[in-house]
Amino acid sequence: MTPRRYLMCQPTYFAVDYAINPWMDPAVPVDTELAVRQWTELRDTYRRLGHTVDEIAPIPGLPDMVFAANGATVVDGIVYGAQFRYPERAAEAPAYLNWFVSAGFTTHAAKEINEGEGDLLLTDRFLLAGTGFRTELAAHAEAQELFGRPVITLQLVDPRYYHLDTALTVLGGTNVAYLPDAFSPASQRVLAQLFPNAVLSTPDDAAVLGLNAVCDGTHVVLPVQARGLADQLAAKGLVPVPVDLSELLKAGGGPKCCTLELRTP
Ligand code: ARG
Repeated sequence: MTPRRYLMCQPTYFAVDYAINPWMDPAVPVDTELAVRQWTELRDTYRRLGHTVDEIAPIPGLPDMVFAANGATVVDGIVYGAQFRYPERAAEAPAYLNWFVSAGFTTHAAKEINEGEGDLLLTDRFLLAGTGFRTELAAHAEAQELFGRPVITLQLVDPRYYHLDTALTVLGGTNVAYLPDAFSPASQRVLAQLFPNAVLSTPDDAAVLGLNAVCDGTHVVLPVQARGLADQLAAKGLVPVPVDLSELLKAGGGPKCCTLELRTP
């Protein structure tokens, strides 16, 4: 495992006040204090595993700001800002960019709609880029020009898996786990060519957002409910680290959504 640096945002103002994905139902009550306890456990888990966690201050009126993965994409210290699909989350993009400026990063505001690491996932060789629900195809080209990493476009087709990081997990630098049915038939063929030894998730494990996981090369922090996936990962020699984020699942989020990796050269 290599020690990582992550950015997280405490869910102080977490709520489900609007519905921009099929997981969100404003009629279902949310326990914000429980969300904070679960999130704190996730943060402390990363620290126990030897990682550094930075925190961005939450802003009232931005209930989804806890999902830091959407705030930007950071590769080789280059920060590509987000630009959100829905107006409910629009103000998060400048909030995250401001954090990066004060942390000393050079930032690049996005011209195209993209939801950060929700749809842009890095392997050693590629930047895997989802589209279909949130991030625009044009943002894939924008990211490739900015980072100089080959971008592989993947078409998402199931509204429950609206971000790439709900349907696919990067395992170390060279392999992935994913739910084939979340992708178009052609994108499934692309994934099969690039990752012949991939872990294929069952629909049941994906349906508890089991693929919304964070791997440091050795450990995979994933939702506790995804037991089958944990066994599959263990069979590959990885160490599953289960966490319970049941409150955040009500907004369609899991561990990876709460975690933005700060990759510096
Ligand atoms: N409610 C949020 C939205 O729909 C959840 C975002 C989850 N983040 C992620 N990286 N998948 O935008």
